[in-house]
Amino acid sequence: MDLFEYQARDMFEKHGVPVLAGQTAETPEQARAAADEIGTRSGGVTVVKAQVKTGGRGKAGGVKVAKSADEAEQYAQQILGMDIKGHTVHTVMIAQGAKIAEEYYFSLLLDRANRNYLAMCSKEGGMEIEQLAVERPEALARIAVDPQVGIDEAKATEIVQAAGFDAETGAKIVPVLQKLWDVYREEDATLVEVNPLVKTEDGDIIALDGKVTLDDNASFRQADHAALVDEKAADPLEAKAKAMHLNYVKLDGNVGIIGNGAGLVMSTLDVVAYAGEDHTGGASKPANFLDIGGGASAEVMANGLDVILGDEQVKAVFVNVFGGITACDAVANGIVGALKSLGDQATKPLVVRLDGNNVVEGRRILEDYNHPLVTVEETMDGAARKAAELAAK
Ligand SMILES: Nc1ncnc2c1ncn2[C@@H]1O[C@H](COP(=O)(O)OP(=O)(O)OP(=O)(O)O)[C@@H](O)[C@H]1O
Ligand SMILES: [Mg+2]
Repeated sequence: MDLFEYQARDMFEKHGVPVLAGQTAETPEQARAAADEIGTRSGGVTVVKAQVKTGGRGKAGGVKVAKSADEAEQYAQQILGMDIKGHTVHTVMIAQGAKIAEEYYFSLLLDRANRNYLAMCSKEGGMEIEQLAVERPEALARIAVDPQVGIDEAKATEIVQAAGFDAETGAKIVPVLQKLWDVYREEDATLVEVNPLVKTEDGDIIALDGKVTLDDNASFRQADHAALVDEKAADPLEAKAKAMHLNYVKLDGNVGIIGNGAGLVMSTLDVVAYAGEDHTGGASKPANFLDIGGGASAEVMANGLDVILGDEQVKAVFVNVFGGITACDAVANGIVGALKSLGDQATKPLVVRLDGNNVVEGRRILEDYNHPLVTVEETMDGAARKAAELAAK
């Protein structure tokens, strides 16, 4: 899960990383009130910042320095509702204005390729770090961080030296990097990025912008993190599937897909996409990914169908199951049970392809049940074509 900047700011503050005052606002009036309060600490100057989970906000006009509460209100008016790379701005943060002397860059991330953590640091931070990394890689220090040790004083010193800081500035940055390590480690993050990390005219080091990605696999031991989820952004079907413990991802097509095993479902998406191109001129495409896993009971099948049939874009459903631990007859009984429990709610054609363990018995069960919406196909390609054609009708 990616955090909003204001959530990262709060998390930094909790772990003692130096940040400036910041307050969120969802209306221009709230922005004015926040600027009135926060501006008193910085000669009336505040910064109005779009809160969207994408980079390049500044360049898109989503970060504006306001010299008064009036101006903050006007900027909030402009920024709220703005679209930044497909993200609508619902919230702005009113941040205390800083007198920036220099802008630096720091990040700590999970380095999967090297099975390690990696710290990156540069004296040249600000808005163009991706460009810097490509054009002048030598200006961006990369230091491996041992997960067992983390960023202690010695490692932090190594990082600031590699980045080429003078001794005085480096000494001020070292404790900040150690605190950022605490954020990374204690919050189970996979990314902590500060761009810019600034030195103010008074010589203080402050994290002015923060990007944090949390590891969802650790959510079981991070009870606080549930409150950070952005409910507004959640797709309702995905939320429903999650509540039923289904592995579901909504896509944009019209052929609903259910399979058992992530690999099979992935290849089913490909086969349906190809069939859609070949036989419907691109009209039919996969509508979702849904893996019901190995033990596909009638209940799980019913839940899966329920979610998929609730998707208005879906015009036909392809059930693609390879009987393994759960044999095809059990899966067929699951489909029959699901159709019975759904009753009138099952309104879209269902193409079923079964193969593997007890396949003959499985197909017989579906043929005996003889539901008007169900077509049994022998091969995956044949079933994909049938489902694509039905969906395009
Ligand atoms: N509180 C502040 N006071 C003064 N200047 C600020 C403040 N916050 C940001 N700035 C200035 O605005 C620039 C852009 O801000 P920020 O880094 O938050 O956005 P961004 O880099 O455009 O967004 P993103 O990180 O999403 O790409 C900073 O590099 C800094 O110069
Ligand atoms: Mg930034």
